[in-house]
Amino acid sequence: MVRGVGVGFVLQPEERYLELLEPVFGELADYFEIAPETTWWGEADGSLTSNGFAERFAELGERWAPASATIKPFVAHGVGLSLGGSRPEDRPRQLRWQRRIAEDHRRFRFAWLSDHLAVTDIGGEAHALPLPLVPTPTVAALVRRRLAELQSIVPAVAVENAAHTFTFGDPLEETELIAGVLELPGSHLLLDLYNLVMMAENMGFAAADYLARLDLSRVIEIHIAGGSWSPDGWLPSRRSYLLDSHSSAVPESVWTLLERVLPRCTGLRGVTLERMEGTVDAGDVRAIEAELRRLRAVVEGSR
Ligand SMILES: [Fe+2]
Repeated sequence: MVRGVGVGFVLQPEERYLELLEPVFGELADYFEIAPETTWWGEADGSLTSNGFAERFAELGERWAPASATIKPFVAHGVGLSLGGSRPEDRPRQLRWQRRIAEDHRRFRFAWLSDHLAVTDIGGEAHALPLPLVPTPTVAALVRRRLAELQSIVPAVAVENAAHTFTFGDPLEETELIAGVLELPGSHLLLDLYNLVMMAENMGFAAADYLARLDLSRVIEIHIAGGSWSPDGWLPSRRSYLLDSHSSAVPESVWTLLERVLPRCTGLRGVTLERMEGTVDAGDVRAIEAELRRLRAVVEGSR
């Protein structure tokens, strides 16, 4: 941990990923990030059944604990809470998930809890990807209410700027939605620089313009990752899209943005390297190790 800003790595619910990367993240990460909902199955009757990965993640945390603690610090970063969902039919699921996250928190003592500024459950159907919200004060107030509920579980909560492939109106207006959400005291922004680069590339705006509209003092965590270009012919227009695949090396554009924003992120507590399960082979391990070492050097250089 460098003057309060840690370097983090994502633990994925895949045994091969964990086995290949354990020597790297065990030594080089100050904290682990997990998605709570990847440690349980949702049954047809709505109940949640453990899949064994909470125990596996805890075992890794204990094995690689710093000398001063019994477990490595953990942070929670969900995908499917559906912070922007407004349908009453989804309330029972949200409340079940909150109870389960509270149980997980007793085990992991999450330093903070985040999810995407998006909707992932529409009419009782869970979507694989977060969908964008309409950037209005009403929606900001809805997300604030959801975050306030989560604060009763983990006091430090955050929303992440998601990797949208479309937005309702000017994509820069998302910064107004973020500002409205952050009116909630004790809430923060998880700034995902790859998501921003991806949207800027696909939608034709400057990432710097988006960043200039944010209060970066409210950023608690930064995500960096790498993605891929869509295959030829993926779209009828034959246009290529940058995809949110978390499948490859962090691009130089993301490293450059990271170095630019770090001095402005005065409340920052961690920078996390994200990688998706199913994208790591033995030949990728050294490259991921080099990325974590580079990340630590960048964070140290910014202090
Ligand atoms: Fe992210």
